[in-house]
Amino acid sequence: MRFLTATAASMMLGLSTAAYNTWPHQSFKSSPHEPPSLKITKTGPTAPGYLFFDQSWKAHQYSVFMMSEENELVWQSPEGDVKDFRVQMLDGKPVLTYWNGLGVPEPFGWGYGLVQILDEHYESIYNVTVTDDHYKALGTINSTSFYSWLDMHESTITADNTMLVTGYNVTQADLSAVGGPKNGWIADSLFYEIDIKTNAILYRWSAIDHVDQISLEDVQQFYPIEDWGRNSSAPYGYFHINSVEKFRDGQYLISSRYYSSLFKIAKDGSVDWTLQGADGGDFQLAHGIHFRYQHDARIHREAHGHLLVSIFDNDNSDVTNGTHPTEGIYMDINELTREVRVVRQLEDPADPIYATSQGSTQHLPNGHSVMGYGAIPKIKEYSANGSVVLTAQFGPDNVVASYRGYKFPWVGAPNTVPDVVACVDRKGNQTNVYMSWNGATEHQLWKVEGGLTRDNLRGVGEVRKTGFETVAKVKGGIEWVQAEAVGMGIENGVSRVVAVKKPKQHHSHFVTTVLSLLGSGLLQRNLFAP
Ligand SMILES: *[C@@H]1O[C@H](CO)[C@@H](O)[C@H](O)[C@H]1NC(C)=O
Ligand SMILES: *[C@@H]1O[C@H](CO)[C@@H](O)[C@H](O)[C@H]1NC(C)=O
Ligand SMILES: *[C@@H]1O[C@H](CO)[C@@H](O)[C@H](O)[C@H]1NC(C)=O
Ligand SMILES: *[C@@H]1O[C@H](CO)[C@@H](O)[C@H](O)[C@H]1NC(C)=O
Ligand SMILES: *[C@@H]1O[C@H](CO)[C@@H](O)[C@H](O)[C@H]1NC(C)=O
Ligand SMILES: *[C@@H]1O[C@H](CO)[C@@H](O)[C@H](O)[C@H]1NC(C)=O
Ligand SMILES: *[C@@H]1O[C@H](CO)[C@@H](O)[C@H](O)[C@H]1NC(C)=O
Repeated sequence: MRFLTATAASMMLGLSTAAYNTWPHQSFKSSPHEPPSLKITKTGPTAPGYLFFDQSWKAHQYSVFMMSEENELVWQSPEGDVKDFRVQMLDGKPVLTYWNGLGVPEPFGWGYGLVQILDEHYESIYNVTVTDDHYKALGTINSTSFYSWLDMHESTITADNTMLVTGYNVTQADLSAVGGPKNGWIADSLFYEIDIKTNAILYRWSAIDHVDQISLEDVQQFYPIEDWGRNSSAPYGYFHINSVEKFRDGQYLISSRYYSSLFKIAKDGSVDWTLQGADGGDFQLAHGIHFRYQHDARIHREAHGHLLVSIFDNDNSDVTNGTHPTEGIYMDINELTREVRVVRQLEDPADPIYATSQGSTQHLPNGHSVMGYGAIPKIKEYSANGSVVLTAQFGPDNVVASYRGYKFPWVGAPNTVPDVVACVDRKGNQTNVYMSWNGATEHQLWKVEGGLTRDNLRGVGEVRKTGFETVAKVKGGIEWVQAEAVGMGIENGVSRVVAVKKPKQHHSHFVTTVLSLLGSGLLQRNLFAP
């Protein structure tokens, strides 16, 4: 029985399956972070900003990452099952958001957690949660192991400074219409609009409450009932909400993976229209438009009855995999004539991708688009004319996955001080000073101070920042070092004073030499090894 094998395999995918992933990663002396080494292909001018992505499945470290197109780490979060990392505006200021929780892998593909909001100092300023809406978890999950019930699929901040989020509730429903039990079990899809500061629920919608308009029989081929729905450990996850947007007038646009549909939800919760990607639903699809199992439906423009909406179309599944390369689609939805036409289709003919889950399509202010390919751990940037200008890969296909990938400019000013580690390199008659500062974006230079006692440090030189971690090679020996990050408007840029680590044997004559040089005030920037 296919279902049983899939479930057993999925439940074994935990946080510690890194052994199968041989993708190279970076490591540092001054930081425990080990981001993937990006395989970058640049084929044209790119938009400014850093790449933002999460990684899971058999990833080396479960985290979210901000990295440059030069393969340098800018910021990595603490480890955890964290997803959908992006910059959003809250109260007119840029903030970082990501989901943090317990992901239940495919074939379930949802999670339980909260959305963290960090300020420019990487301080946690708000957690968006739903804690008391009477949820029931998947039968195999111990619900005391998490705090909030929000799923990873959505965390969009609206123009009203509220957040749109999703939830999955295991509950009972009559499945006889689709060949399941009368007292069957389903994973219901919910979405909410939440007041970020109070966590008050401002709006709440559940798919099963609207089964009269969204009938179970319309679920697409990807998800036949088979053995699902017989108990709360194998609920029929028929709707699978995966994005929520708000229209200017307060109605909502939601995306359902297994209906292969976008739904416009009126304020009273009823379905205003259905746009189904294969037969159109309430719409007429112009030639060339076709989508299934799509993700990330975003409204870019609303004017005169026309909507400009983008989606990530991963028309791939156990039934259709390998037949339609994954694409980004921008479409014009005419709400008056009920016609849909393609505005832009994004795919890389030189590198067709068949993503079976997750993924995102982001529109950048300069007209470029960035796509994150979900089960295929790649990010591609497309220019305004649809040509590929950047591909970054961070793991083997279908081994490491990333829920969404983005590009954003960001200025980070950590509240923490820089990290420094110094080691004696006797062979080279020098001290190697390793410096990094997770999340800091504005320093260009490191100044190094050294000395033989911790309270008597002097400048021993300066060096340009060369990446996430910079190493300064200080000639001769020192016992204590301190590093300072230098750049415009830097605060907290001075590290702790740390002892130089030494190989076991000690008392070499170069320590004495440097001591005398320090005493004579002769040590300056020329002490760096070439
Ligand atoms: C949010 O939750 C995280 C993780 O549980 C916690 O470390 C942090 O302090 C919380 N932040 C706020 C503002 O409550
Ligand atoms: C669930 O977890 C809690 C604490 O983590 C534990 O006390 C409890 O026994 C667990 N329940 C089951 C059914 O395993
Ligand atoms: C979840 O389902 C239970 C019934 O199983 C119901 O009582 C509860 O209200 C539901 N919660 C939500 C958030 O829909
Ligand atoms: C739930 O249903 C599935 C599929 O029918 C079955 O394999 C599994 O053993 C059941 N679990 C429990 C706890 O009864
Ligand atoms: C989907 O198809 C692609 C291309 O044929 C293949 O590489 C990939 O392994 C398939 N994925 C799954 C989950 O079957
Ligand atoms: C499309 O844009 C790219 C990068 O901006 C440029 O190199 C290329 O010539 C353009 N192609 C066409 C057909 O305009
Ligand atoms: C080590 O470096 C110091 C300072 O530059 C120098 O005076 C000394 O001769 C060097 N010693 C050796 C063994 O190279």
